[in-house]
Amino acid sequence: MNPRGRFITLEGVDGAGKSTHAAWLADTLRAWGYTVVATREPGGTPLGETLRGLVLSESMSLDTETLLMFAARCEHLAQVIEPALARGDWVVCDRYTDATYAYQGGGRQLGAERVAVLEQWMRPALQPDRTWLFDVPLELARARLADARQPDRFEREAAEFFERTRAAYHARAAAHPGRIRIVDSSRPVEQVRAQLHAELRALTETA
Ligand code: TYD
Repeated sequence: MNPRGRFITLEGVDGAGKSTHAAWLADTLRAWGYTVVATREPGGTPLGETLRGLVLSESMSLDTETLLMFAARCEHLAQVIEPALARGDWVVCDRYTDATYAYQGGGRQLGAERVAVLEQWMRPALQPDRTWLFDVPLELARARLADARQPDRFEREAAEFFERTRAAYHARAAAHPGRIRIVDSSRPVEQVRAQLHAELRALTETA
């Protein structure tokens, strides 16, 4: 039987810097000899990427937005994540269900309970083995975003939206301390990488 693959997710508010580290994590794992599937949400499949284009640009009700996040996720699980893990590959996914708790549940104030219903309905048993939550003070996240390309529907939200989103991420981390590790990504990139490197190494050593 294949050695079991691991499911890693990266989270954080827009501008927290997680995308900088996603490619580096995948490259590091490959250098250690693992087969890695690097993917993202919403997206990761042709249908999921089409849904991504819609949720990032079209205005829609909160319920529709939340359901589309999960629709893209269902497809992603069935087509990409579960087959990769079954092959023994490692999956590095830029955002997953914690993002729905944070953005729709917290930022848009849907509440965690409504998100939990959909999570239960979809695939409750499959949780990431490790989630890194990239965390920065909001002023820094906002400053990083200001330098970015054309902002999407979420990136255009007001500061209070991101305060609620960040608070919901912290609530997730408090509720799942074994799985979610907070990464202070206001530090220099090398220091962040040193933490990730050590924690990634530890993950490869767990049975
Ligand atoms: P993001 O990772 O920020 O993409 P990029 O770095 O290319 O801008 O993700 C896009 C947005 O989608 C982000 O603002 C958060 C939002 N999002 C949700 O609101 N709910 C979700 O469940 C997911 C997966 C993402």
